[in-house]
Amino acid sequence: MAESIQSDLVVVANRLPVHRSSPTAQWETSPGGLVSALMPILREHTGIWIGWAGTAEPATEPFLHDGLSAVPVPISTEEVRDYYEGFSNSTLWPLYHDACQTPQFHRHWWRSYVAVNRRFAEMAARHAADHARVLVQDYHLQLVPGMLREMRPDLRIGFFLHIPFPPQELFAQLPWRQRILEGLLGADVVGFQTKVGAQNFVRLVNRFTPHRGVGHAITVDGRHVEAREFPISIDVDRIESLAADPAIAAKAREIREEVGGGRTVLLGVDRLDYTKGIDNRLRAFSELLASGRHDVDDIVLIQISVPSRESVDEYVEIRNRVEKLVGQINGEFGEVGASPVHYLRRNLPLDELVAHYLAADVMLVTPIRDGMNLVAKEYCASRLDDSGALVLSEFTGAAAELDRAILVNPHDVDGMAAAFEQAIVMPKAERTRRMRSLRQRIRRRTVYDWATDFLGAVDQAAPLATGGPR
Ligand code: G6P
Repeated sequence: MAESIQSDLVVVANRLPVHRSSPTAQWETSPGGLVSALMPILREHTGIWIGWAGTAEPATEPFLHDGLSAVPVPISTEEVRDYYEGFSNSTLWPLYHDACQTPQFHRHWWRSYVAVNRRFAEMAARHAADHARVLVQDYHLQLVPGMLREMRPDLRIGFFLHIPFPPQELFAQLPWRQRILEGLLGADVVGFQTKVGAQNFVRLVNRFTPHRGVGHAITVDGRHVEAREFPISIDVDRIESLAADPAIAAKAREIREEVGGGRTVLLGVDRLDYTKGIDNRLRAFSELLASGRHDVDDIVLIQISVPSRESVDEYVEIRNRVEKLVGQINGEFGEVGASPVHYLRRNLPLDELVAHYLAADVMLVTPIRDGMNLVAKEYCASRLDDSGALVLSEFTGAAAELDRAILVNPHDVDGMAAAFEQAIVMPKAERTRRMRSLRQRIRRRTVYDWATDFLGAVDQAAPLATGGPR
C-alpha cells in the first residue's frame, strides 16, 4: 500500500483494531465494541485506522486487513514507558477515575505524551483527504485534535472520550490542564459517555481557558465546538445471535455442571484493573458466606480477570490483592472438591464470554468508577429468556441507562453483600420484569446508533477553510 494513501474517513486511536504479539506474528482482529462499531463504517467509506500495533517496534508500512487500511504508528520502548504506561496510565487513567489511585505527575512523561500525540496528528494529517472526517479516540490522544487543526484546518474533527471526564476539583490538579483542554477544543465535536462528563468539561473550559461555553456549545475563536454525551453501546444483534447458538448454550450448560449443577452462579468479568472494584466485590462475597445464609454448596462465584497493563505497579498490586482474597475465601469457605470462587486470569473470546453470561444467574459489575461498562450491557443482551439479575455499580456510565439493575455503592461492602443476597433470592417474576426492561433499554440504542449519532454530529460541523498545508 502506498505511503500516500488518503481517505475521507480516518479513525485515530492508541491501538489499531488489529494486534500481534511480535513483529513477525500474524495480525489478528482485536475484540471490542469500538472495533465492531467502526469497522463496517470504515469499510463502507474505504476508511483508514491509525494506531499502535501494541509492541515497541520500528515503523511498519500501512497494510490492508479485512478490507480496512491500517496505518501503524511506531512507539519506542521509552515511549511505551513514558507516554503509555506513564502519562496515559499512571497520570490520566487514575486522575480521570476519581483519583482512586494517586495520579503521578512527571514532566518527562508529559513531554513524551506531547511527542507521541504529535506523531499521531502528523500521521492523520498525512492520510486525511481534503475535508475528511477524523475521529480521534480516548484519553491517550487528547492533544491530537488541536495539533491536527493547526496542520489541517479543512478537516472535520471528532473526539470521543471512552472513560469518565473528572470533576473540576480533580482535573484542576493536572499541571498541564489548560494544554489538555485546548487540545480537545481543536475538535468540532467533543463526545463523552455521560451528560455529567460533558458538563464537567464545559465548566473547566470556562474556568481555565479564555473560551466561553454555554450548555453544549463552546465558542473558540469564532468557531463552534459541540461538547455533549454520546453513550456508547454494544452490537446487540451479534450478542443475541451468539446467545441463540445451540453450541454456545451447550457450553453454558457444561460450565454450570462443572461448577456444580444446582448452585447459584455469580459471575464477574473485568480487565484486571483497580478501577473495577474486584477486591471489594470479593470482600462482599466473603461476607455473604460468613453470614451463614449461604455456603459453598449453594453459591459459587466465577471471576474472569483479563490481564492488563502488567508493567504498571498498581496493576501488579491489584492482581496480588485479588489473588490473595481468592485464596483466603477458598481456604476459609471451601471444601475438598468444592471452591466458592473459580478464578480465571485470561482473555476469553466473545463466544466463550457469552457462554459464561448464559451460565450465570447473577452478574456482578461493581467498578469504583467506569466510563460506561459494556460487560453489563452484554450480559443483559445475552439473556434472551429475560432470566438473570444484574448487580451494577452506581459509578458506571451504564447505571444512567440501566436503572432497573440492582444498583450498589461499590465502597459499601455490607451494602453489596445485601445486594448480592437480594439478587440471589429475587422472585422469578421480578427478575423477568427487570431483565425485560433492561434488554429493551439496550436494544433501543446499539453501538451502531452511537456511531451514526457521533458521525452525524461531526458531519454537521462547518469546515472553516479549504485545503490546508500538508
Ligand atoms: C479502556 C480504554 C481503552 C483501552 C482499553 C484496554 O477500555 O478506554 O482505550 O484500549 O481500556 O487497555 P489497553 O491499555 O490494553 O489498551
